[in-house]
Amino acid sequence: MKRFRLFFILFVASVLFTGEVCAKEKIIRVLAIGNSFSEDAVCQNLHELAVAEGQECIIANMYIGGCSLERHLNNARKDLKAYIYQKIGLDGVRCQINNMTLSNALKDEPWDYISLQQASGFSGIYDSYTPFLPELIHYIKTFISPGTKLIWHQTWAYAEGANHIDFKKYGSSQMKMYESIIDASGRVMKDYGFSFIIPSGTAVQNARTTFIGDNMNRDGYHLNLVYGRYTAACTWFESIFGKSVVGNTYAPKNMHPVLVKATQEAAHQAVLHPYQRTNLNFIKPTEKLYTDPTVPLDIRVEDLLSRMTVEEKVIQLNQYTLGTNDIENNKGVEVKNIPAEIGSLIYFGTEPELRNRMQRHAMENSRLGIPILFGYDAIHGFRTIFPIPLAQACSWNPALVEQGCSITAQETKQSGIDWTFSPMIDVSRDPRWGRVAEGYGEDPYANAIFGQAAVRGYQGKKLDDSISIAACLKHYVGYGASEAGRDYVYTEISRQTLWDTYLPPYEISLRSGAASLMSSFNNISGIPGSANHYTLTEILRNKWGFRGLVVSDWGAVLQLINQGVAKDLKEAGKLALNAGVDIDMMSHSYDKYLKELVAEKEVEPTVLDESVRRLLRLKFQLGLFENPYTPKTEASARFRRTASLQVAEELSAQSMVLLKNDGTLPLHAVKRLAVIGPMANNDHDMLGCWWGHGEDKDIHKLLDGITDEFKKTEIRYAKGCDFLGKDESGFKEALQAAKWADVVVMCMGEKGNWSGENNSHADITLPQIQQRLMQKIHAIGKKVILVLANGRPLVLGSAVDMSNAILEMWQPGTDGASAVAGILSGRINPSGKLAMTFPYSQGQIPIYYNRRSSARSNQGFYKDMTSEPLYSFAHGLSYTHYSYGELSASKTTLSKGEKVKVSVSVTNDGEHDGMETVFLYVSDPYSRISRPVKELKRFDKRMIRKGETENFEFILDVNRDLGFVDDQGNLFVEAGEVKICIGDKKLSLEIK
Ligand code: NOJ
Repeated sequence: MKRFRLFFILFVASVLFTGEVCAKEKIIRVLAIGNSFSEDAVCQNLHELAVAEGQECIIANMYIGGCSLERHLNNARKDLKAYIYQKIGLDGVRCQINNMTLSNALKDEPWDYISLQQASGFSGIYDSYTPFLPELIHYIKTFISPGTKLIWHQTWAYAEGANHIDFKKYGSSQMKMYESIIDASGRVMKDYGFSFIIPSGTAVQNARTTFIGDNMNRDGYHLNLVYGRYTAACTWFESIFGKSVVGNTYAPKNMHPVLVKATQEAAHQAVLHPYQRTNLNFIKPTEKLYTDPTVPLDIRVEDLLSRMTVEEKVIQLNQYTLGTNDIENNKGVEVKNIPAEIGSLIYFGTEPELRNRMQRHAMENSRLGIPILFGYDAIHGFRTIFPIPLAQACSWNPALVEQGCSITAQETKQSGIDWTFSPMIDVSRDPRWGRVAEGYGEDPYANAIFGQAAVRGYQGKKLDDSISIAACLKHYVGYGASEAGRDYVYTEISRQTLWDTYLPPYEISLRSGAASLMSSFNNISGIPGSANHYTLTEILRNKWGFRGLVVSDWGAVLQLINQGVAKDLKEAGKLALNAGVDIDMMSHSYDKYLKELVAEKEVEPTVLDESVRRLLRLKFQLGLFENPYTPKTEASARFRRTASLQVAEELSAQSMVLLKNDGTLPLHAVKRLAVIGPMANNDHDMLGCWWGHGEDKDIHKLLDGITDEFKKTEIRYAKGCDFLGKDESGFKEALQAAKWADVVVMCMGEKGNWSGENNSHADITLPQIQQRLMQKIHAIGKKVILVLANGRPLVLGSAVDMSNAILEMWQPGTDGASAVAGILSGRINPSGKLAMTFPYSQGQIPIYYNRRSSARSNQGFYKDMTSEPLYSFAHGLSYTHYSYGELSASKTTLSKGEKVKVSVSVTNDGEHDGMETVFLYVSDPYSRISRPVKELKRFDKRMIRKGETENFEFILDVNRDLGFVDDQGNLFVEAGEVKICIGDKKLSLEIK
């Protein structure tokens, strides 16, 4: 009786304190020993699926990213605290313990089931299990009771085209990988006595046969966070609890019912047939899933794609023009009868009406209501025009460049355009090539950093924001290497230089999420950029995993015939699409021949689908299906807002480079100022080569800026001469003004349209007429300040000696004049530094700072002139003076894979506050593949007040920043010395 009472008391107490006694029989405890794959499968949804069936459970996962069986065994042998232990308790609350040992996890609960699996890429290789599995099983068994069942988690194949290195083990074929996995897991089940298999891999493969298609993975190998993880959890549920998951009432929030149905069925069929894929393509959404914004993007894409005919797919891949445009290289005449199914249009309008009309036509008159994607070249502004990109790079202020691009995005988007063909990130080393104006100069790193800034600015936080537009990196790749500076011509680029110099800006800018990329005109060592499978597919898609859209440059597909690689337009289209060009801009090759090419099996339907998929994905990302029309915004609210003009003026100011100054600048107490030259009272040429929809009436002219700034100074203007020609009739007036003045400001240079596309110049000296005017004025003996407007580095010749100061203002856009005036007066301290070298003579071209070492460092110079440039990369003067302290490093002996911090203090010991750009260069005196004499790796621009010191710190990554690539893009880090150079200071580091 006493004993009975004691039992009774203990029983009641246990019920009161744990509340578990009645349910005890039912609690199932599961421990997965795995990695992120098991995490994907068990850490979400499984608990909820069980609860929905009244089943209590405790679920835990032993996590180490990518952990292999070998590593598990090693952890076990040494009892290492190596795991993150993720556990979901009875109440569904998830807790996490770091530094857990396997033995402690095994002892933590009386587990009913313990799972093992192989790590990711080895899942399908049976031989990789045998050395480790027996000992690991033995180890586990020493901690568990005989009732605990060991189970086998079958993992899944990667998405087709996954760029994970392990995918190559299966010939990069998903089916091959899947077959290997089922074969290996079948043999493991047989040979090692597991109680049952959890066939998540088969479930994923089953789901791929539905409308979900190949979208089960979020990064090519881990599962999609919602329906991918749910599929795996459903498989675990049914395998462990023995109840069909079909009809289970639990599903993640916002998961569309048809997705729930497909994934539950995929899991159910997998449990029934773990070693074979079941075709579930009969599960089709009845309603149009693609119109439902709650459905995941990739599923919307698949759903829409599955409804499209070949004709509809083909027409999507073309880009025509809408509106009129009379710019020489991109003429757009009003096109009538544009099909409602057209994929994309270049929009030449400034108001959204025309777009909206055309869009309505597409939405209402096409069978599937697919919106059109509207693109335009907003290169350095839309209506507020910023300095040309080459000038922007000289600001060395990526944050400011980003702000400029976001203003461009706002003006562009609100005018009816979703996509800009910018930024250009072509490393450019030949100033004869007019397109140097459009990019960020001669350095790969600078192009990468400004490319990223531009992408961030254009695309904002989200592509579907009302003021975001998609960016387009161009011109992929090597366009800047145009031979002899001529546009559209051949480029000769060695594979190593391709990897070392021309590809990095793209690889790095893609990391900031660029939505698209433009294939180039140039023929890269024999294969044109728009037919180049190596660059467009092997590198861009397979190596870098880019999922965005590729558009050809204007007419680039047609031009494959001129370039001698296609016999006709049909073959050109075939080459381009097969190489990886998704959209044909203005060649009419895809619309004419693609259907035929698919029927003739010259283009695989899967290749066509993939291109359409990429375009549709961008349209969904931009929110075009939900918001196809551009709301009307008053022009005054849209264009040239006060805050936008401030950014434009600031960017102009920071872009300008003081090339020479003998102390004449800044101007003090000048009584009479003569302002002379063809740029002085000019508006349009201030804009540069891509003036978008900039209007001449908005332009602040130099003369007006100077007049506003120098209120107490008498100012006389004379044009003197035109940019070009022989007419000297204006010289007399100019000379009179110069004689009258104390100081002469000469505003000279190039017209806005002398640079940019199709504007190669063999002669980049200052035109004769301008030189003659300078000579005459110089002879008078007054102080001369040369203000230069140009879209490329110029050869300045005797103009240098004839000037007391030279200010490179570039083509500063609508709002640069007061920046020039401010620099002349000293209100602004110039801070720009060259992003591209100014040659001393045209015969030196190409000349750039990051060349490789010569075989004879003391010979090989020009016999007839200096071999040095006139003004080198990074040159730029200030009104103050900076002194650099000694460099220090957090460590001087480095191991591969490490990071090192390099610091320098910079003191402004001059007379003005100023902004200084600190450049950090690296040089590797000796390596298997020779390196440039120095390479820019970091820069930072900051305000340093007069008399103050700023400490600059840079973190370098030994592999990324001190390594180098071979001609396949493989990275090498070699032991030995590397030198760091900042300002006039140097430091040696040693890589072990
Ligand atoms: C040709 C130019 O090369 C490219 O930069 C531009 O984006 C397209 N035309 C479209 O206008």
